[in-house]
Amino acid sequence: MDRFTDETVIVTGAARGIGLAIARRFLAEGARVVIADLQAEALEQARTSLAGGDRVLAVPCDVSRPDDAQALAEQARQAFGAVGVLVNNAGISPKHGGVKSLIADMAQAEWRQVLDVNLTGAFLVSQACLAQMRGRRYGRIVNIASQAGRTRTDIAGAHYAASKAGMLGLTRVLATEGGRDGITANAIAPGRIETPMAAEAGAAVNAAYLERIPVGRLGTPEDVAGAAAFLASADAGFISGATLDVNGGVFMI
Ligand SMILES: NC(=O)c1ccc[n+]([C@@H]2O[C@H](COP(=O)([O-])OP(=O)(O)OC[C@H]3O[C@@H](n4cnc5c(N)ncnc54)[C@H](O)[C@@H]3O)[C@@H](O)[C@H]2O)c1
Repeated sequence: MDRFTDETVIVTGAARGIGLAIARRFLAEGARVVIADLQAEALEQARTSLAGGDRVLAVPCDVSRPDDAQALAEQARQAFGAVGVLVNNAGISPKHGGVKSLIADMAQAEWRQVLDVNLTGAFLVSQACLAQMRGRRYGRIVNIASQAGRTRTDIAGAHYAASKAGMLGLTRVLATEGGRDGITANAIAPGRIETPMAAEAGAAVNAAYLERIPVGRLGTPEDVAGAAAFLASADAGFISGATLDVNGGVFMI
């Protein structure tokens, strides 16, 4: 399939894990992909590994900083033309020795940092891209939320769960306000996906979790990438404000 030929796609948090797999998927389907990440060195390695030549632009960026978000959108426009697809994937889930902070012990700075990156970051980059999408009367925003924003979590902290639930609300308002301008917004709520972030919870936690997954395996970054590409495709033109669970059936509603 080549559903995104010459489309301008931004993927945040794309130096590794799910974001890198999403970037690879859009690239394979013909897009011009802007990969953005806080970790400049890892981002450069990702750019090399994608082997997309001049169809990949790497932009070091902290999504929680308004100036960085604006610069990201502007560099994408200058390099590839107005943004059509934005995947808000950058996220953090702080652990201490593999264990989350409980609310009773949580430092306020840690709470704010997670909300700043996961939720405010998605808001800022969306805001920065909206004018370009409105100018085209076309846009696809895909927010990578989490199962932890949908149901109870024992693994992630309150900041993470709150930020991901917040992304679902942000998605619905983006969908509402953007609809008449040809912009859809949807969220993906991944379950346990095998990435460096998931590895931090430790093998025992992930093994116990695996027992509860009906399809009998953890997810892969490619599972999420396939869902993101679908939500950004023409086939999903009448899907907006939705949350797609990509979790092997561990949480059903
Ligand atoms: N792995 C899972 O099991 C899982 C489950 C549900 C949701 N998610 C979500 O999927 C997304 C990707 O997760 P992952 O497992 O690939 O994580 P990861 O930690 O492997 O990768 C996240 C990337 O985001 C980047 N990043 C962090 N802060 C940033 C910032 N301020 N600005 C720009 N980039 C920043 C990191 O440098 C990293 O490269 C996250 O939003 C995460 O919450 C992951």
